[in-house]
Amino acid sequence: MLETTAAPAGVDELIASLPPSFRWGVATSAYQIEGAVHEDGRGRSIWDTYCRVPGAIDGGDIGDVACDHYHRMPDDVALMQDLGIDAYRFSVAWPRVQPGGRGGVNPAGLAFYDRMVDELLGRGIDPWVTLYHWDLPQELEDAGGWPVRDTAYRFADYAMLVFDALSDRVHAWTTLNEPLCTAMLGYYRGVQAPGRRDFGAAIHAVHHLLLGHGLAVQRMRAAAANPVQLGITLNTSSVSPATGSPADVEAARRADGLGLRIYLDPLVHGAYPADVIEDLEVRGVRVPVQDGDLAVISTPFDSLGINYYFSTLVSGVDSTGRTVDADGVPVELDVRYGRPVTAMDWEITPDGFTELLARIGRDYPGIPLVITENGAAFKDEPDETGFVRDDDRAAYLAAHIAAVARARQAGADVRGYFVWSFMDNFEWSYGYDKRFGLIRVDYETQRRIPKHSAHWYRDTIRRVRGA
Ligand code: FCB
Repeated sequence: MLETTAAPAGVDELIASLPPSFRWGVATSAYQIEGAVHEDGRGRSIWDTYCRVPGAIDGGDIGDVACDHYHRMPDDVALMQDLGIDAYRFSVAWPRVQPGGRGGVNPAGLAFYDRMVDELLGRGIDPWVTLYHWDLPQELEDAGGWPVRDTAYRFADYAMLVFDALSDRVHAWTTLNEPLCTAMLGYYRGVQAPGRRDFGAAIHAVHHLLLGHGLAVQRMRAAAANPVQLGITLNTSSVSPATGSPADVEAARRADGLGLRIYLDPLVHGAYPADVIEDLEVRGVRVPVQDGDLAVISTPFDSLGINYYFSTLVSGVDSTGRTVDADGVPVELDVRYGRPVTAMDWEITPDGFTELLARIGRDYPGIPLVITENGAAFKDEPDETGFVRDDDRAAYLAAHIAAVARARQAGADVRGYFVWSFMDNFEWSYGYDKRFGLIRVDYETQRRIPKHSAHWYRDTIRRVRGA
């Protein structure tokens, strides 16, 4: 049986220490839940294409129907209201709003988000919009995708189409979700759309993603008629060397450099980290910076979104004792802490969450933080009514919310927390088998059944608010 992290003593007290002003929410993304890929003029995205590559997705799954949220949105929003959340973080599908990634708006596609914003506000839920959660219009990928500079400008144009339509009612805007995944998993590792394997292209993608973010922030700020909160979401992890050996310490430095600092240093300090630039040079890669880019990228923003699932130990030596692989790339191996794992085989490391938040607060001070994703997949076993008694998920959430409270006590300015995910959904290359939801989705009937963790989350929010 899967062992899970039991709530250590003090978890309830820590959670109860969060202030009534702390914001509680749930998160999803467009391609993972909407379905309706051929409706109302939606164009094709790189995920529609990638899902059709044989072997790319476990079980051959595909997002064509997903949770059918496009047709069930009002009922889903009603379920959110039952959870008692303050805010819902969702993403807008670029190919619905601007099907080929350039040119005018597709009014029918945009109308879906317009209706959703009204539905949310009508139920007292604050809409938090993410503009890009990985579903690039295929036509832009055909023109070179994120490794090409023009994509940054296309993104800023698209951002303004959405901003102009919704910013009279939406104040919280996130430009990009996890640029690391877009760049490294999509263009280097080839395990997410568009499935390319080219390290140099991935580093170019990093720069153009950051540039697109900066351009969009500048234009949204200039156009805002109401107060807005602009930000970006990064996926993060606390990286430590497996041992004190110089090779492991170096590997951890490199992993932290390409995992976190290559994003946060230019965003906050206006410069790429010197050691990362040197590492890239050794690999024959240059970041394609043009005059003025770093000033655009470091345009001030209001809140940093943190997605956290696990922390890692890294070794710089492989099993044969080598520190460089056959292609001349320095070795960077993930090593186990020996902790219990989730169904993703991710180790459960809430203590790393506290360390990470405290460190970001120290190294990048003055930026309010929001946890825009945290959660866990477990092997859910529904009873005959479809109910899932997911004590493991509730324990994971409790331990991580307590870790946030501990980080706040250590000085990290964390203002809110969103569970990934509101409901079970299409978990990218893992397909539908990996369930992260507070709400179970029976994919045959599209029935939604709140799990034990949904009740736990609702009660926790109530308790903290003192309601
Ligand atoms: C994050 C993604 C999100 C979901 C979770 C499990 O990296 O942003 O869409 O897949 O992982």
